[in-house]
Amino acid sequence: MKTLDWNTLFGKGAGRIQASTIRELLKLTQRPGVISFAGGLPAPELFPKEEAARKAAEILKEKGEVALQYGPTEGYGPLRTWVAEWIGVKPEEVLITTGSQQALDLLGKVFLDEGSPVLLEAPSYMGAIQAFRAYGPRFLTVPAGEEGPDLEALEATLKRERPRFLYLIPSFQNPSGGLMPLRARKRLLEMVMAQGLVVVEDDAYRELYFGESRLPSLFELAREVGYPGVIYLSSFSKILSPGLRVAFAVAHPEAITKLTQAKQGSDLHTPVLNQMLVHELVQEGFPERLSKIRATYRAKAGTMLEALDQEMPKGVRYTRPQGGMFVWMELPQGLSAEALFRQAIAQDVAFVPGGPFFAGGGGENTLRLSYATMGPEGIVEGVRRLAKALKRLLALA
Ligand SMILES: Cc1ncc(COP(=O)(O)O)c(C=O)c1O
Repeated sequence: MKTLDWNTLFGKGAGRIQASTIRELLKLTQRPGVISFAGGLPAPELFPKEEAARKAAEILKEKGEVALQYGPTEGYGPLRTWVAEWIGVKPEEVLITTGSQQALDLLGKVFLDEGSPVLLEAPSYMGAIQAFRAYGPRFLTVPAGEEGPDLEALEATLKRERPRFLYLIPSFQNPSGGLMPLRARKRLLEMVMAQGLVVVEDDAYRELYFGESRLPSLFELAREVGYPGVIYLSSFSKILSPGLRVAFAVAHPEAITKLTQAKQGSDLHTPVLNQMLVHELVQEGFPERLSKIRATYRAKAGTMLEALDQEMPKGVRYTRPQGGMFVWMELPQGLSAEALFRQAIAQDVAFVPGGPFFAGGGGENTLRLSYATMGPEGIVEGVRRLAKALKRLLALA
């Protein structure tokens, strides 16, 4: 057969698209017997399997001609209206997307040119870095910790640069688990408003708080003072099912119109059947469902922290999450999380090394542990194996 040199045939953008480290690692972690703290996969025991089976059959029987037909790009009307009421906006301010991941790609498509500055936290969600990178922007980063981005560093950067947007995850950040306090949210908004900048607020973990209530989003705070520059993203992935790929963007109607036009070229619309199913699933017992999800993740986080407190050697630092799915760990300086990964895989436990979460490089001694997927026994055993791997690495160092 004739061969082709594909790399000479691909466009310039293709060179910027790289394999996602998480996905490559996930392949290794799927080996039987491996306890994986790697992927941010929601707890499968929380999936509404029976309700979904029943509702999907009802939808297909009673509204099959809608469910199986093309639908509007903006989203299935009743779901769009439901989301609008839930978030407290008008339906024309909502776009249903095929996962939040699609919204990130659409934002790249609409806002970024080659070389455009875009500001991210370091570390930040790898999927966002990957989505934006395809458009060839220039990444500006500010360090982020348990209380979100370093606002002094942000202020200094905004004196020099005018990013096309700031991409932030203020609540239960992926990967750091950080939570921006209310005061910091207000101060950040003041800075952004003073310069008329756009913020993309990714609130994928909005409902996964362990305390009494959630903090107001940047979007809500901006609306209170009449600022239209916050684009809000959230998703049904962490509260119903990631496999359905139903999420939403909320923004000023002008931004929604442009994102909708961009979505047309991407996939015409999000699968109608999935949207109808989500709409049905949120009609009954949704608040109770959210409480159960919060309680489940709160308990899993507690189990992991207790195990880490018992097992981890001195010099290892880790966060105590107040919500979300992740513990973020820092190994003593000079130790490499990738080297630990190799030791860990030999012990049949996996995590994600932190390096790829830093758009500007660094973070070699950091790693992310997800407590979302495993049950309590798996979490305890996995931490025990991880500690063993770490002690081996320390002995080699
Ligand atoms: C911060 C963040 N944004 C977006 C996504 C993608 O979510 P979706 O399943 O809605 O595409 C994830 C998934 O892990 C995430 O952690």
